[in-house]
Amino acid sequence: MKPYKHVPLEFKRMQPAEQILASREFLERMAARRSVRFISSEPVPFELIENAIRCASLAPSGANQQPWKFVVVKDPEIKRKIREAAEAEERESYEHRMPADWLEALAPLGTDWHKEFLETAPYLIVVFRIDFGLTESSEGETKTKHYYVQESVGIATGFLLAALHISGLATLTHTPSPMGFLAEILGRPKNERPFVLIPVGLPAPGATVPAIAKKSIADVMEIK
Ligand SMILES: Cc1cc2nc3c(=O)[nH]c(=O)nc-3n(C[C@H](O)[C@H](O)[C@H](O)COP(=O)(O)O)c2cc1C
Repeated sequence: MKPYKHVPLEFKRMQPAEQILASREFLERMAARRSVRFISSEPVPFELIENAIRCASLAPSGANQQPWKFVVVKDPEIKRKIREAAEAEERESYEHRMPADWLEALAPLGTDWHKEFLETAPYLIVVFRIDFGLTESSEGETKTKHYYVQESVGIATGFLLAALHISGLATLTHTPSPMGFLAEILGRPKNERPFVLIPVGLPAPGATVPAIAKKSIADVMEIK
């Protein structure tokens, strides 16, 4: 393959004071992000969802393969099917599949198999990882290897969660286990695998969150 031609980088040089202000503002906004498990059915503008997905799809990815697909679910009947399937899997997990140490790690969060937010949220965004490229032609199917899919989709999901939060929306990073039912209900091709399920909306009136603590900067950063 021919190398890409290079174009000048679009880069706005900022003054240090302006950089610090921007950095503090973003930090302050992000410090208020929480996983919300009580989501209102109040509608929210679709443009917020679309812009957040545009933002996620600008994330870096291994060899620029952009191995992701964001499926937005707004149809109440599809949401109902997703809730039903997720609750069936989660109930089985909580009651039979999760080992004691996993249940113990989750216990302080107070989560269980009930997932009402999957129906109340105005939108569910299901992030799929595209494990390999798949093209069909008269000679049959061609598969292309994708590199660093997990890392790339993880970074894109981070962009997505940040963009949704900055837009004044509440999200939950939800991973009902196993998640195969999402590919089935949403009719995804065989090269796509569910990565995470994100209900999005406004917090329900009176929504609460667990009073968790985050590690301090001294715990998470080391300077050499
Ligand atoms: C990969 C991943 C999977 C998660 N899966 C679930 C889940 O299935 N159900 C749930 O209620 N929370 C889930 N969470 C949310 C975490 O419990 C939450 O991020 C954590 O408790 C920290 O809380 P915070 O997001 O409010 O800071 C998940 C988070 C991540 C990053």
